[in-house]
Amino acid sequence: METNKIKVKLEAPMVQARYQYAIDVMLTRLRMIDADLTEKNERPLIRNLCSRIKTAESIVKKLERKEREVTFETAVNTLNDIAGVRVVCYFADDIYQIADAVRRQKDFTIVKEKNYIRKPKKSGYQSLHLILEIAIPFQKENQWIKLELQLRTAAMDYWANLDHQLRYKRGQKQAA
Ligand code: GTP
Ligand code: MG
Repeated sequence: METNKIKVKLEAPMVQARYQYAIDVMLTRLRMIDADLTEKNERPLIRNLCSRIKTAESIVKKLERKEREVTFETAVNTLNDIAGVRVVCYFADDIYQIADAVRRQKDFTIVKEKNYIRKPKKSGYQSLHLILEIAIPFQKENQWIKLELQLRTAAMDYWANLDHQLRYKRGQKQAA
């Protein structure tokens, strides 16, 4: 029931368009950043880019897990990862070069940073997470859309995918 209500609001054309805009701006900017850093380092830093808009089912699961009110408004106001972009690099140093460039962008505001490389999760999960707000210059004043940017190496990504399979798909708590 709640899932359906959230699905209808989430799938409204203007809501999808806003989140997709934020994702597209981020992807385009990351390609520019990679081109610039490729010249400086004489090799590419980004191996793969991917993105997604969170589904209504996944939003409901997360709100329930966090014991929050299961409404679209609570989702928009409290979840940071309705729009998500993931960067997979070659080396750990690459992550910090890219993150520094992202921090310098004038139309992005950094809301929060979580460094799970310096301090990996119990699961062994490592990544650098930047929670950003992306400006949308549309209709009078800027609107800001929240986006979670995950930066990790291919090795960290491999581990995260295995952990995800074990945890979410097979319902195991700890992947011994
Ligand atoms: P959730 O973990 O999703 O409740 O969000 P949070 O607000 O606690 O933020 P956090 O930075 O911990 O996690 C955000 C996202 O990072 C998740 O949605 C996953 O995509 C990823 N993530 C975090 N921890 C793990 C983990 O232990 N394993 C895997 N595979 N992914 C993780
Ligand atoms: Mg978490």
